[in-house]
Amino acid sequence: MDTLTLTNKKQTPEDRQQQLDLGTSGIVPRHIAVIMDGNGRWAKSRGNIRLFGHKAGVDSVRDITEACAQLGVEYLTLYAFSTENWGRPMDEVSGLMQLLVQSLRSETKKLNDNDIRLLTIGQIERFPESCQRELKEAIRITSDNKRLNLCLALSYSGRWDITQAVKKLAHQVKEGRLEPDDINDELITSELVTAKIPDPDLIIRTSGEFRISNFLLWQLAYSELYVTDTYWPDFRRKELYEAIGSYQKRERRFGKTSDQIVAK
Ligand code: FPP
Repeated sequence: MDTLTLTNKKQTPEDRQQQLDLGTSGIVPRHIAVIMDGNGRWAKSRGNIRLFGHKAGVDSVRDITEACAQLGVEYLTLYAFSTENWGRPMDEVSGLMQLLVQSLRSETKKLNDNDIRLLTIGQIERFPESCQRELKEAIRITSDNKRLNLCLALSYSGRWDITQAVKKLAHQVKEGRLEPDDINDELITSELVTAKIPDPDLIIRTSGEFRISNFLLWQLAYSELYVTDTYWPDFRRKELYEAIGSYQKRERRFGKTSDQIVAK
């Protein structure tokens, strides 16, 4: 029985067995990234305001984080607020900020007790001071944890990330520290905000949309994609296991032939 206590629910023997089965049926992805979509529609379908859906989405965050830690996933990246989300109505934006602050206040100790490290990618300097303070504190408190890296993409977009990397390289060229012909894949990767994070193996998108929505554009070059119709507030560990099961059935060829992969 695993003793993780994020959800405050005792793990059932059936759930433990499902996790063990996934561990033996194939490789568990090292890095799972999730586009958590459908909170608004979930709330609307219940005659409620959008923020109600975001609040319910936090329960899914807790459950998926706990399950990933139990499964031995090393990185879980959640697309919690995109650069484009700043364009939403002000009350929704400020509601999301408040929800983030509340969640950090109530969850940081639990994250720490469960050996989970929190990190962020994105322009958190655009967030209100109070929000930045809570984030930095949670990052500091959990910085030595090893079990799972929970990475929140906040005010993040793939194009922004690539642009800021290109700017840094352009400055190095301007200052004579870099030859343009020396720019390659590795160098660009090293200037992205994800430089220390492996590329995602599996990207899950909820709510049935077949879109990437400016998520990890550079990093997903060879990620496996999984789309489910389920709205994020209904997406729980059982669906996560289905996504991982689907991932395990795929052959990742990275541009090579099937024979080359089998021969390895
Ligand atoms: C997308 O659904 C979801 C978001 C933009 C926000 C995600 C935020 C949470 C799950 C809660 C806060 C997260 C943390 C980590 C504390 P949508 O609003 O685009 O839904 P719709 O497509 O149905 O309108």
